[in-house]
Amino acid sequence: MIKLSGVHLLLTYQCNFACEHCFAWGSPDQSGVMRLADIREILRQAEQLGTVEWIYFEGGEPFLYYPILLKGVVEAAQRGFKVGVVSNSYWATDVEDAEEWLRPLAGLVQDLSVSSDLFHWDEALSQQARRVSAAAERLGIPVGVISIASAEASAATGQLPSGESGVMYRGRAAEKLAGQAPHYPWPGFTACPYENLREPERLHVDPLGYAHICQGIALGNLFQRELAEICAGYEPTAHPITGPLLAGGPAELARRYGLEPNQGYADACHLCYQTRLALRPRFPHLLAPDQMYGVLG
Ligand SMILES: C[S@@+](CC[C@H](N)C(=O)[O-])C[C@H]1O[C@@H](n2cnc3c(N)ncnc32)[C@H](O)[C@@H]1O
Ligand code: SF4
Repeated sequence: MIKLSGVHLLLTYQCNFACEHCFAWGSPDQSGVMRLADIREILRQAEQLGTVEWIYFEGGEPFLYYPILLKGVVEAAQRGFKVGVVSNSYWATDVEDAEEWLRPLAGLVQDLSVSSDLFHWDEALSQQARRVSAAAERLGIPVGVISIASAEASAATGQLPSGESGVMYRGRAAEKLAGQAPHYPWPGFTACPYENLREPERLHVDPLGYAHICQGIALGNLFQRELAEICAGYEPTAHPITGPLLAGGPAELARRYGLEPNQGYADACHLCYQTRLALRPRFPHLLAPDQMYGVLG
């Protein structure tokens, strides 16, 4: 039985950037934005579960729809949730200006995460991230930096630089970056290394209503079935996608449906994503939406 402590809202699939590593395929050309009514409906359903502590606003880039983000944050806080926001901080043109963007969020946001690395910017700790950190500290907003190591940086030392995490080769990363990484034989990918597919503690909900256990693997759609019902009805081993993944990772997912993978893959997510792409016509409501598979509307 799923007991969620967090619901992460993808406020929009749109982003000012189109980073090569982005597992959500964020870009200026993407479609899909939550309306206030959608946010309220998702918050209502999250509250109904009685277990959710955290609501996150992410995307895409949530600051592109700033007034809607702000209202969503206010309403989430009013319902008693702790609130997090994840942003690439493109808007931080100066510390003083960043303070103006952030002031309305002070006292409402308990975790502001800014992404800064060589995928987003031309220096690991961008000027924008520094400005946001300074402004957030002045306002008393807890702030942290998310940094994803470049493939070169991890390959050079054989380990990830401290404070950084690695690229997971799914979404755009599978298409744009996996070719540059070392490949390993597909039968070795016998487990999902990153997501708790049996008892997830958080789900991502997108502007179309899909509840993702991992980007592009839907457990249901909140605009068609209540989140409480989706969580109560989730049988991990019976789900056509997470069932095989739990039984034997992406290798089993491919085997179960009679697919013949190529020789090598960069990581488990790379095999998983490519296998799911091939399975989309068979499971259109579970391997959705198009946005998560790089199909532009
Ligand atoms: C999808 S972005 C959305 C929010 C915002 N636009 C931003 O850049 O922070 C959220 C976070 O996911 C990280 N991310 C995206 N694709 C990833 C991947 N393939 N592997 C690891 N982290 C990834 C980004 O670096 C970013 O820190
Ligand atoms: S193996 Fe598949 S389900 Fe697990 S984290 Fe990677 S892409 Fe997601």
